[in-house]
Amino acid sequence: MTFILIFVTIFNWIWILESVTAPNLIDFQLRSSPNHAELLNCVGKLNEKLAKLGVKNILLQANRQGTKSTNAKTCNPNATLKRNLTSVSYCFNPSDSSTIGGNVEWMPQGVTTVADARSTQLWNTKRAILITWYDKKSEKPTNTDADQIKGARVTFFDPETSKYQHVLLVYPYLNNKGEITYMSLRTIQKDGYDSLHAGGIVWYDNYLYVADTARGFRIFDMRQIFDLNKTTNGDTNNKYLIGFQNGKFYAHGYRYIMPQINDWSNIIPRNSSMTCRVNAGSPTFSFVSLDRTDSDHLISGEFCADKTANGDLEKSGRVARWPLDKQTGQPKLTNGIWKADSAYRLPISNIQGAVSFENKWYLSRSQGAKNGFLYKTKSINSTTGILQIENSYYSSVGPEDLSHWPTIDGKAGGLWTVSEHAGKRLLYVCNIDQLNNSNQFGNICGERNSFF
Ligand SMILES: *[C@@H]1O[C@H](CO)[C@@H](O)[C@H](O)[C@H]1NC(C)=O
Ligand SMILES: *[C@@H]1O[C@H](CO)[C@@H](O)[C@H](O)[C@H]1NC(C)=O
Ligand SMILES: *[C@@H]1O[C@H](CO)[C@@H](O)[C@H](O)[C@H]1NC(C)=O
Ligand SMILES: *[C@@H]1O[C@H](CO)[C@@H](O)[C@H](O)[C@H]1NC(C)=O
Ligand SMILES: *[C@@H]1O[C@H](CO)[C@@H](O)[C@H](O)[C@H]1NC(C)=O
Ligand SMILES: *[C@@H]1O[C@H](CO)[C@@H](O)[C@H](O)[C@H]1NC(C)=O
Repeated sequence: MTFILIFVTIFNWIWILESVTAPNLIDFQLRSSPNHAELLNCVGKLNEKLAKLGVKNILLQANRQGTKSTNAKTCNPNATLKRNLTSVSYCFNPSDSSTIGGNVEWMPQGVTTVADARSTQLWNTKRAILITWYDKKSEKPTNTDADQIKGARVTFFDPETSKYQHVLLVYPYLNNKGEITYMSLRTIQKDGYDSLHAGGIVWYDNYLYVADTARGFRIFDMRQIFDLNKTTNGDTNNKYLIGFQNGKFYAHGYRYIMPQINDWSNIIPRNSSMTCRVNAGSPTFSFVSLDRTDSDHLISGEFCADKTANGDLEKSGRVARWPLDKQTGQPKLTNGIWKADSAYRLPISNIQGAVSFENKWYLSRSQGAKNGFLYKTKSINSTTGILQIENSYYSSVGPEDLSHWPTIDGKAGGLWTVSEHAGKRLLYVCNIDQLNNSNQFGNICGERNSFF
């Protein structure tokens, strides 16, 4: 049975290589939000009302203690399925690791680091790893604050101290009395919509680029983070309420909030029932990363489930590279539009994260409750085409977004990811120049025998 399945997969793969079409760059165009001025106006009003602080102080005041692994079993063998991992890894505090009363409230997704933010890899003397989480919808009511739709949050993790702090991402607006308020991040910014998935994140210069699955990116500013505990009428106790209500500012009990300042959204119409099919039109934004090779680019990509693609390479998803302006930290535009300058078809489905570096791609793939895989592709230098797998390595269970942290002198360095499943969470790095090391064979970040 197993042999037949493997044979069919390989057969499909070879067959598809001959028939598959490359993505069309026309589909990859984003425009700035029509609300941009309004969002900036709202953030200006929050500045008048709320106390503010910077990233360094968030790290210094971080209220949770994570753990750094001290041996190859890691601080969470649930996440590695007992395979060794010899590179650096961290676990979250138990309150963020597992289920709470049988319910999973938050799911980690996106990863970025100070190496994405600055080529100096320092932010005011500090280093940080950032992780986005979305509020998973309760399967059944818990009659606690966990039933609230809290949107997305970002964690500032200090790799030196293993201390970390959550910050709630919010969408600012004026209420019907013209007062400044905000709500949690939703797929559409109205009551009744689900939490934004925030499947990927890049910290670039002063900005946070957060994946907005159906649309593009939501933008946040590192200089606009507010502290409700230092605000006279801020409330950090009530976990049910958010925004300005009864004369107070709430944030579901979170102390820090970060308001959206802009978004970049798809221009070409997108038919969601065509997602992961040929002629899907505008792409899906499932994960995000940064590539500093030659000129800086944001990387975006599509998650297309194994069962949707069913071995058809044409349905395995697309990745794209979006040019950035190093001077401003903002998109590099063509006639006011942000256009991807290259895009490729993925060589396999179920991809949860991707980065490119020196024309090769690294892809993170989950496999349910089993170990996921990390792939390296052959180099590709054309502006569109189909990626081809060169080699395959083991990942943790449920690996997500990838983030590339090169060494300070520009050598390959490492690939960071986080595994998402409750009880199986691990934040870890794979060192690129150790991937082929034969001592690592069979380990997490070590080679496997097979591609599939
Ligand atoms: C895993 O690492 C331990 C030491 O930390 C070592 O004893 C063991 O042999 C390793 N297992 C494999 C399969 O490499
Ligand atoms: C707010 O700050 C006060 C002291 O300034 C401290 O006692 C309290 O624990 C803080 N609350 C939170 C939620 O951080
Ligand atoms: C979306 O695609 C489906 C399947 O091809 C089609 O039936 C439907 O009419 C399309 N919807 C729109 C709005 O184009
Ligand atoms: C792409 O360019 C790199 C150098 O940047 C080169 O090493 C590689 O062979 C090229 N790959 C292809 C497929 O042409
Ligand atoms: C590992 O799994 C066990 C059993 O599900 C669970 O009790 C434990 O909390 C998990 N460990 C971590 C660090 O999540
Ligand atoms: C790693 O091994 C694969 C095949 O096993 C090979 O194609 C690739 O070039 C090797 N990479 C390095 C950096 O040695």
